Amino acid sequence: MRNIMVTGGAGFIGSNLVRHLILNHPDYNIINVDALTYAGNLANLADIESNPAYRFVKADICDAQAISDIISRYNIDGIIHLAAETHVDRSIVDPLAFARTNMIGTLTLLNCAKDYWEKLPEGYNGKLFYHISTDEVYGSLLHDDPPFTEQTPYTPHSPYSASKAGSDHLVRAYHDTYGMPTLITNCSNNYGPYQFPEKLLPLVINNVRLHRPIPVYGKGDNVRDWLFVEDHARAIDLIFHKGKPGDTYNIGGNCEQRNIDIIRKVVATTDRLLGNPPGYSDSLITFVTDRKGHDLRYAINASKLTRQLGWKPLTSFDEGIERTVAWYLDNRQWLDNVTSGAYTEYYDKMYGRPTTTPQ
Ligand code: NAD
Ligand code: DAU
Repeated sequence: MRNIMVTGGAGFIGSNLVRHLILNHPDYNIINVDALTYAGNLANLADIESNPAYRFVKADICDAQAISDIISRYNIDGIIHLAAETHVDRSIVDPLAFARTNMIGTLTLLNCAKDYWEKLPEGYNGKLFYHISTDEVYGSLLHDDPPFTEQTPYTPHSPYSASKAGSDHLVRAYHDTYGMPTLITNCSNNYGPYQFPEKLLPLVINNVRLHRPIPVYGKGDNVRDWLFVEDHARAIDLIFHKGKPGDTYNIGGNCEQRNIDIIRKVVATTDRLLGNPPGYSDSLITFVTDRKGHDLRYAINASKLTRQLGWKPLTSFDEGIERTVAWYLDNRQWLDNVTSGAYTEYYDKMYGRPTTTPQ
């Protein structure tokens, strides 16, 4: 058995990844470490929570004592680190929360792993610290620029992307200074089930079903590169097992879309699956003041990952959008719970008061 710690496993990508690992690696124990901020929801893992290979531990990655205890108690062999503050708009309002979790939290985790692994008879042998990062660290592209490669210099613009860039640098520093086996991946925009509905796609679906305005920032001509979350989980699994320690890999969907185009597609798909006539919700689309410092375009060149490890996305954009809209409409109670905050009552009962964004 290998004991793998996944941080942020109660969030969007984390819960999809934990499910993927539990279903595909029966020889692993998965220890999900999550502070259960507003973005963490144990209901995301209700279907696997009774699996004997799964454990949940509520802890803040900035709490060195708690993290050290977990690493030694479970004799952790590998860490896949997703816990983070992740919403760009929130980072514009509360940048310190992002510096704390994304930089201090990552540093705390690195240091606790180093202290534990260095003292083992086998040292770092067989150990791995895998940090999940974002394409936003590379900054913003113009419409005719080539996509980001692993060599693109870091030029983050938002407090969120700056804090993720900082965390990437810290991970590299632990590899270069202490010889810790590390991996970093920088992925493009994910979409799919269990995404908190402050992010664009679930927000649009939720607003169509509730017949609320759909805010389009600026002119809607910003471009993102979209990847279905299960394809990201597969990429993480592959890189965790086959990636070269010390290396960085880009992950992307090769699927660039203007915001206004993806919004129109999601609105039309949601209307169709709700049984509304074509065009029924188009008037909800509302152009609003642009996000401050809004990055124009992200696009990922993932050819290194395809060339070296053979990964490519398996879910087409059309299929991914169809499955995503259908999932949210089939899980309206989940949407209602996370938007009303009712899901925190579950934590109150099981783990005491929920942790909000730590101050
Ligand atoms: P999310 O916001 O849905 O989930 C984040 C999780 O981290 C939540 O469960 C939350 O409770 C937990 N968390 C937050 N602060 C914590 C702390 N101090 N201690 C312990 N747990 C804490 O995020 P997501 O969209 O699933 O993103 C996961 C990771 O992937 C992040 O590191 C993000 O930067 C990266 N990423 C996301 C995307 C995307 O499109 N969503 C793309 C590329 C990379
Ligand atoms: O690129 C990877 C990143 O993708 C991740 O690292 C982030 O954690 C994740 O949140 C995402 O960042 P974005 O800022 O691209 O995602 P968001 O869903 O917030 O917005 C997508 C685009 O849609 C962006 O150009 C802003 C725009 N937008 C967003 C919202 C919430 C709107 O026009 N209206 C909205 O209401």
